[in-house]
Amino acid sequence: MAFSRRYDWHFPPNALGELLARKQAAGRALLDLTQSNPTRVGLDYAREAILAALARPGALVYEPSPRGRPEALGAIAEYYHGLGCPLDAAQLFLTASTSEAYGHLFKLLGDPGDEVLIPTPGYPLLAYLARFEGLRAVSYPTRYSEEKGWSLDLEVIEALVTPRTRAVLAVSPNNPTGAYLKPAELGALDALCTRHDLALVVDEVFADYAGPTAPPPPLRTAAGRTRCLTFVLNGFSKMVALPQVKLGWVAVCGDVDLAREAGRRLEALLDFYLSVAGPVQHAVQRLLAGREAIQRQIVARLEVNEAWLHSQADRSGHGRVLRREGGWYAVVELHDTLDDEARVLDLLERWDTLVHPGFFYDFNRDGFVVLSLLPPPEIFQAGAAHLLSVQPK
Ligand SMILES: Cc1ncc(COP(=O)(O)O)c(C=O)c1O
Repeated sequence: MAFSRRYDWHFPPNALGELLARKQAAGRALLDLTQSNPTRVGLDYAREAILAALARPGALVYEPSPRGRPEALGAIAEYYHGLGCPLDAAQLFLTASTSEAYGHLFKLLGDPGDEVLIPTPGYPLLAYLARFEGLRAVSYPTRYSEEKGWSLDLEVIEALVTPRTRAVLAVSPNNPTGAYLKPAELGALDALCTRHDLALVVDEVFADYAGPTAPPPPLRTAAGRTRCLTFVLNGFSKMVALPQVKLGWVAVCGDVDLAREAGRRLEALLDFYLSVAGPVQHAVQRLLAGREAIQRQIVARLEVNEAWLHSQADRSGHGRVLRREGGWYAVVELHDTLDDEARVLDLLERWDTLVHPGFFYDFNRDGFVVLSLLPPPEIFQAGAAHLLSVQPK
């Protein structure tokens, strides 16, 4: 039997996965600093309001609509109006998640063997999503300096463009580095995409979560700010911290004629799937209205954990916390010579502490770990204390 080569379907045993399975089988209570499921970290959700929003009578009727219900699209357009962006509901297309939106865009833009440029360090899923659609993900580096934080090198990005390149992807703020796109970077990406006839895809799932070192003001959306064909992605998994309700969307912007043609094709594609459930479509307006209450709690949690991490890193002298402009993650650079795998295994083996190694996000060398800032402070602090006290053996 032949299976597709879009994915490496072999799962060779990996040391961290095996150790984790052993710990779990033994019933160990882990200090899980990879936890980024907001529904598992003790936040106070408006339970009754959420359940009521998902139980509207309209949810009993099947109303297939490739782009989504007009009321839902209108409520999302209002979100952009609130950011000062005059987006029209006709530019919006619902999907069952942001990940699904990527899949549709890759189908829309590329043929097998075509390429998309993705940021590194970056969200590991992007390369897989591209491969599932037969595309090749080509990484472009983002760079860190103490003075400027993370930034893009437009010359490097341009050098990676080939006749097969179809799109440049940007994540703002990026996962895990937390860097927002700066207006000048967006302008330069726009010019580059226009010059080479490429689409620009901007993933803004963390855009509402500005951190203490966010640029004043952070670029909350690229929608309405570009001339090239631009797809802006967002969704409920982060914006309202409800990944389980499964809602994402695409705003198609930029060049009016191209955007109209892309929208026509995207709508045709969505019509084959009709994947967005009725109950969530009926709930969009109400769930969006509740976002500030949950976002406030999350921002407070991120800040408490991050402040503690900074103080602990300063005190221990064992690592430094990189600048986080936004998003849910902290990147810690450790001042030692342990390789990433040895470090994460040691932390889990000796201290029941789980962190993500930098290589998971394609950092260009050893010495980085990524922590979710979402866990309850007592868990976060206990785990991070182990991280910062671990010395090379
Ligand atoms: C940058 C980024 N984009 C997209 C997603 C996926 O979002 P969704 O749950 O809507 O598929 C994530 C999830 O963590 C993410 O970090």
